[in-house]
Amino acid sequence: MAVDTSEVMITQEQIEKMLEDVSSRINRDYEGKELIVIGILTGAYIFTADLTRRLNMPVNVDFMQVSSYVGTESTGELKIRKDLTVDVKGKDVLVVEDIIDTGRTLALLKDVLYKRGAKSVKLCAAFDKPDRRVNDLVPDYCGIVIPDEFIVGYGLDLDGQFRNYKDVRIVR
Ligand code: IMP
Ligand code: MG
Repeated sequence: MAVDTSEVMITQEQIEKMLEDVSSRINRDYEGKELIVIGILTGAYIFTADLTRRLNMPVNVDFMQVSSYVGTESTGELKIRKDLTVDVKGKDVLVVEDIIDTGRTLALLKDVLYKRGAKSVKLCAAFDKPDRRVNDLVPDYCGIVIPDEFIVGYGLDLDGQFRNYKDVRIVR
Protein backbone atom coordinates (compact mmCIF):
# COMPACT_ATOMS: atom_id res chain seq x y z
CA MET A 1 0.00 0.00 0.00
CA ALA A 2 1.21 3.52 -0.76
CA VAL A 3 2.27 5.74 2.14
CA ASP A 4 -0.32 8.30 3.21
CA THR A 5 1.21 11.59 4.42
CA SER A 6 -1.86 13.77 4.00
CA GLU A 7 -2.48 14.46 7.68
CA VAL A 8 -0.64 17.52 9.02
CA MET A 9 0.44 17.27 12.67
CA ILE A 10 2.46 20.49 12.95
CA THR A 11 1.94 23.51 10.71
CA GLN A 12 4.57 25.92 9.37
CA GLU A 13 3.20 28.57 11.75
CA GLN A 14 3.70 26.26 14.74
CA ILE A 15 7.24 25.51 13.56
CA GLU A 16 7.97 29.28 13.34
CA LYS A 17 6.73 29.78 16.89
CA MET A 18 8.77 26.81 18.12
CA LEU A 19 11.90 28.34 16.53
CA GLU A 20 11.28 31.66 18.28
CA ASP A 21 10.74 29.94 21.66
CA VAL A 22 13.78 27.69 21.48
CA SER A 23 16.16 30.29 20.06
CA SER A 24 15.21 32.92 22.64
CA ARG A 25 15.93 30.50 25.48
CA ILE A 26 19.30 29.57 23.97
CA ASN A 27 20.15 33.24 23.39
CA ARG A 28 19.39 34.01 27.03
CA ASP A 29 21.35 31.03 28.44
CA TYR A 30 24.47 31.55 26.33
CA GLU A 31 24.64 35.33 26.38
CA GLY A 32 28.28 36.44 26.28
CA LYS A 33 29.52 32.94 25.44
CA GLU A 34 30.64 31.18 22.30
CA LEU A 35 28.89 28.05 21.16
CA ILE A 36 29.72 25.02 19.07
CA VAL A 37 26.52 23.80 17.44
CA ILE A 38 26.54 20.19 16.29
CA GLY A 39 23.72 19.33 13.89
CA ILE A 40 22.91 15.64 13.60
CA LEU A 41 22.66 14.55 10.00
CA THR A 42 20.60 14.06 8.13
CA GLY A 43 17.33 14.84 9.87
CA ALA A 44 18.45 18.01 11.68
CA TYR A 45 19.80 19.86 8.65
CA ILE A 46 16.78 22.14 8.29
CA PHE A 47 16.28 22.73 12.03
CA THR A 48 20.00 23.50 12.45
CA ALA A 49 19.88 26.07 9.63
CA ASP A 50 16.72 27.74 10.95
CA LEU A 51 17.83 27.72 14.58
CA THR A 52 21.38 29.00 14.09
CA ARG A 53 20.14 31.95 12.02
CA ARG A 54 18.22 33.06 15.11
CA LEU A 55 21.18 32.84 17.50
CA ASN A 56 22.98 36.01 18.57
CA MET A 57 26.22 34.67 20.06
CA PRO A 58 29.27 33.63 17.97
CA VAL A 59 28.53 30.10 16.74
CA ASN A 60 30.66 27.48 15.06
CA VAL A 61 28.40 25.04 13.22
CA ASP A 62 29.50 21.50 12.48
CA PHE A 63 27.72 18.26 11.66
CA MET A 64 27.93 14.64 12.73
CA GLN A 65 26.14 11.62 11.39
CA VAL A 66 25.51 9.06 14.09
CA SER A 67 23.11 6.28 14.93
CA SER A 68 22.69 3.89 17.81
CA TYR A 69 22.33 0.19 17.48
CA VAL A 70 21.42 -2.25 20.17
CA GLY A 71 23.88 -5.09 20.39
CA THR A 72 24.55 -6.99 23.57
CA GLU A 73 23.92 -4.00 25.83
CA SER A 74 20.43 -2.50 25.99
CA THR A 75 21.90 1.00 26.16
CA GLY A 76 23.21 0.40 22.64
CA GLU A 77 26.41 1.55 21.00
CA LEU A 78 27.08 4.66 18.99
CA LYS A 79 27.97 4.28 15.35
CA ILE A 80 29.73 7.38 13.97
CA ARG A 81 29.33 7.61 10.18
CA LYS A 82 30.61 11.16 9.86
CA ASP A 83 32.68 12.75 12.57
CA LEU A 84 33.27 16.37 13.56
CA THR A 85 35.99 18.54 12.11
CA VAL A 86 36.07 20.86 15.14
CA ASP A 87 37.71 20.03 18.45
CA VAL A 88 35.18 20.28 21.30
CA LYS A 89 37.80 20.26 24.06
CA GLY A 90 37.03 22.96 26.61
CA LYS A 91 34.08 24.24 24.57
CA ASP A 92 30.38 24.75 25.23
CA VAL A 93 28.52 22.43 22.88
CA LEU A 94 24.90 22.34 21.79
CA VAL A 95 23.73 19.21 19.98
CA VAL A 96 20.83 19.85 17.62
CA GLU A 97 18.64 16.85 16.75
CA ASP A 98 15.44 16.52 14.74
CA ILE A 99 13.58 14.21 17.08
CA ILE A 100 14.23 12.18 20.22
CA ASP A 101 12.66 8.77 20.24
CA THR A 102 14.22 6.09 22.49
CA GLY A 103 16.86 8.61 23.57
CA ARG A 104 19.69 6.14 22.93
CA THR A 105 21.48 8.17 20.25
CA LEU A 106 21.74 11.40 22.24
CA ALA A 107 22.60 9.71 25.53
CA LEU A 108 25.53 7.92 23.87
CA LEU A 109 26.63 11.00 21.92
CA LYS A 110 26.60 13.17 25.04
CA ASP A 111 28.97 10.67 26.69
CA VAL A 112 31.31 10.71 23.68
CA LEU A 113 31.46 14.53 23.65
CA TYR A 114 32.23 14.72 27.37
CA LYS A 115 34.93 12.07 26.92
CA ARG A 116 36.45 14.32 24.25
CA GLY A 117 36.70 17.06 26.85
CA ALA A 118 33.73 19.31 26.09
CA LYS A 119 33.17 21.84 28.88
CA SER A 120 29.39 21.51 28.63
CA VAL A 121 27.04 19.53 26.40
CA LYS A 122 23.40 20.51 26.06
CA LEU A 123 20.78 18.86 23.89
CA CYS A 124 18.22 20.56 21.70
CA ALA A 125 15.51 18.74 19.74
CA ALA A 126 12.82 20.11 17.48
CA PHE A 127 10.44 17.29 18.43
CA ASP A 128 10.27 14.82 21.29
CA LYS A 129 8.39 11.52 21.71
CA PRO A 130 8.82 10.96 25.47
CA ASP A 131 6.47 7.93 25.44
CA ARG A 132 9.14 5.97 23.58
CA ARG A 133 12.05 6.70 25.91
CA VAL A 134 14.15 3.80 27.22
CA ASN A 135 16.36 5.96 29.48
CA ASP A 136 16.03 9.12 31.57
CA LEU A 137 17.24 11.49 28.85
CA VAL A 138 15.55 14.90 28.89
CA PRO A 139 16.52 17.50 26.26
CA ASP A 140 17.69 20.85 27.62
CA TYR A 141 15.74 22.57 24.85
CA CYS A 142 12.70 20.88 23.38
CA GLY A 143 10.58 22.36 20.64
CA ILE A 144 7.33 20.41 20.50
CA VAL A 145 6.35 17.27 22.42
CA ILE A 146 4.42 14.87 20.21
CA PRO A 147 2.48 11.63 20.73
CA ASP A 148 3.89 8.28 19.60
CA GLU A 149 3.35 8.65 15.85
CA PHE A 150 5.84 8.35 13.00
CA ILE A 151 6.27 11.79 11.45
CA VAL A 152 7.95 13.17 8.32
CA GLY A 153 8.80 16.62 7.01
CA TYR A 154 10.92 19.52 8.28
CA GLY A 155 13.97 17.30 7.76
CA LEU A 156 12.49 14.04 9.00
CA ASP A 157 12.27 11.17 6.57
CA LEU A 158 10.77 7.82 5.82
CA ASP A 159 13.38 5.86 3.86
CA GLY A 160 14.96 9.12 2.71
CA GLN A 161 11.73 10.69 1.48
CA PHE A 162 9.58 13.65 2.56
CA ARG A 163 12.35 15.67 4.28
CA ASN A 164 11.43 18.68 2.14
CA TYR A 165 7.89 19.10 3.44
CA LYS A 166 7.57 22.52 5.07
CA ASP A 167 5.19 21.15 7.71
CA VAL A 168 5.21 17.93 9.71
CA ARG A 169 2.91 15.11 8.72
CA ILE A 170 1.84 11.78 10.18
CA VAL A 171 2.69 8.62 8.25
CA ARG A 172 -0.31 6.33 7.90
P1 IMP B 1 16.64 7.54 19.20
O1 IMP B 1 16.19 8.66 20.09
O2 IMP B 1 18.03 7.06 19.52
O3 IMP B 1 15.66 6.39 19.24
O4 IMP B 1 16.72 7.98 17.69
C1 IMP B 1 16.18 9.14 17.19
C2 IMP B 1 16.31 9.07 15.68
O5 IMP B 1 15.34 8.16 15.17
C3 IMP B 1 16.01 10.41 15.03
O6 IMP B 1 17.17 11.15 14.81
C4 IMP B 1 15.39 9.99 13.72
O7 IMP B 1 16.39 9.74 12.76
C5 IMP B 1 14.72 8.68 14.02
N1 IMP B 1 13.28 8.86 14.27
C6 IMP B 1 12.63 8.62 15.42
N2 IMP B 1 11.32 8.88 15.31
C7 IMP B 1 11.13 9.33 14.05
C8 IMP B 1 9.96 9.80 13.32
O8 IMP B 1 8.82 9.85 13.82
N3 IMP B 1 10.18 10.19 12.04
C9 IMP B 1 11.41 10.15 11.44
N4 IMP B 1 12.51 9.74 12.10
C10 IMP B 1 12.38 9.33 13.38
MG1 MG C 1 18.09 10.95 12.49
